[in-house]
Amino acid sequence: MAEDRLKISRRDFMRASTATVAAGIAAVAPVGEAVAHDADSRFQSTVAVSLPINGVPHQLTTEARVTLLDALRERLLLTGTKKGCNRGECGACTVLLDGRRVNACLVLAASAHGREIVTIEGLAQGDRLHPVQQAFIDHDAFQCGFCTPGQIMSAVGCINEGHTASNAEIREWMSGNLCRCSAYPQIAAAVEAAAREMV
Ligand code: FES
Ligand code: FES
Repeated sequence: MAEDRLKISRRDFMRASTATVAAGIAAVAPVGEAVAHDADSRFQSTVAVSLPINGVPHQLTTEARVTLLDALRERLLLTGTKKGCNRGECGACTVLLDGRRVNACLVLAASAHGREIVTIEGLAQGDRLHPVQQAFIDHDAFQCGFCTPGQIMSAVGCINEGHTASNAEIREWMSGNLCRCSAYPQIAAAVEAAAREMV
């Protein structure tokens, strides 16, 4: 008996709640319009972004949620920067932002507005390779090559930061860049050699 009363009570409660919510929504606006408006403002808002990349200004209108990595690869077709994990774990997407190494998959394009960006496409001077690029070739520091653009950009940052006093220090400060081919000994040797050349 007590159970019956409980069931009725639940049914009554649901009827009353539904009526109250419906009345509230109707008082504000027609249901369809309100939902569509929210969806528009949250998921379709766009921002105008200026990205100076490798010394060239690029103007983009993009969704606020777009990452720098996707803006580079899919909007500007700068596909040298690779997408590996897309969550900050592999370093394949490393670029320089105001001279510092960042994972482009963790940076919103909008937050890079007006900041100097250097990608792998911006390192060589015409036909002349950057010393780090040349060192990677000289030391055979890649196999499949997928991680290589990120390794090279990270190495440039590592050398500029001065973390090249020893092979062990280089390995430590390059540890955010993974290589599934395990070319680590050659990569560290290449960074060491490039660092000597760049001082
Ligand atoms: S793709 Fe950005 S860290 Fe892996
Ligand atoms: S060279 Fe293949 S993942 Fe590094």
